[in-house]
Amino acid sequence: MKLFVDTGSIKDIEAIAALGILDGVTTNPSLLAKEPGDFRDNLKKICGIVKGPVSGEVTATDYAGMMREGHDIAKIDQYMVVKVPLTRDGIRACKALSGEGIAVNVTLCFSPAQALLAAKAGASFVSPFVGRLDDIATNGMELIREIVEIYDNYDFKTEILVASCRHPIHVVEAARMGADIATCPPAVIDQLFNHPLTNIGLEKFLKDWEKAQAVKA
Ligand code: E4P
Repeated sequence: MKLFVDTGSIKDIEAIAALGILDGVTTNPSLLAKEPGDFRDNLKKICGIVKGPVSGEVTATDYAGMMREGHDIAKIDQYMVVKVPLTRDGIRACKALSGEGIAVNVTLCFSPAQALLAAKAGASFVSPFVGRLDDIATNGMELIREIVEIYDNYDFKTEILVASCRHPIHVVEAARMGADIATCPPAVIDQLFNHPLTNIGLEKFLKDWEKAQAVKA
């Protein structure tokens, strides 16, 4: 399973990319709004760091505006993916942009029916938001299971990009269900590393080693 980071922070992206486990980046208007500088320059820098799919989202809500912004975003770099919302205009823009060979990520997906539409419109990625479903007492990961089943039934090529991941269990369940990608905030990627027995084990190994060195000296 591929691991993407969900942030606009260049500092965080550099730090995670240096670990060698990062496959791509997702951003959204809320995340990019937090960062200083021009959003296009920031997306260009991110593409240079990660060299994998980097999603940049349109803010237009009508088809013509989405097409215009989509073309602008795609021009930023060869790694750019145009993110469009799962609306009627968004699905129409997805079909048109995908037809031109532009990679599209259909975002704000909250149902299997919506995921089916994204696949039929030729999306490269669909982003179901599991955390936001959990927030309203609906099982977000159940949606992933349903989308995996539907896409497998018809061999759709759209990659399932599990979004709005709030904790490591979302990532582990996504991997167990066979989702293609999980995108996580930097803090959740950091949590994936943690296990108390790793720390305890390492501490003991090093203590034993030091003791043996002291005896030999
Ligand atoms: C995905 O592309 C979105 O940017 C993101 O995962 C939304 O996550 P949130 O629900 O934590 O804002």
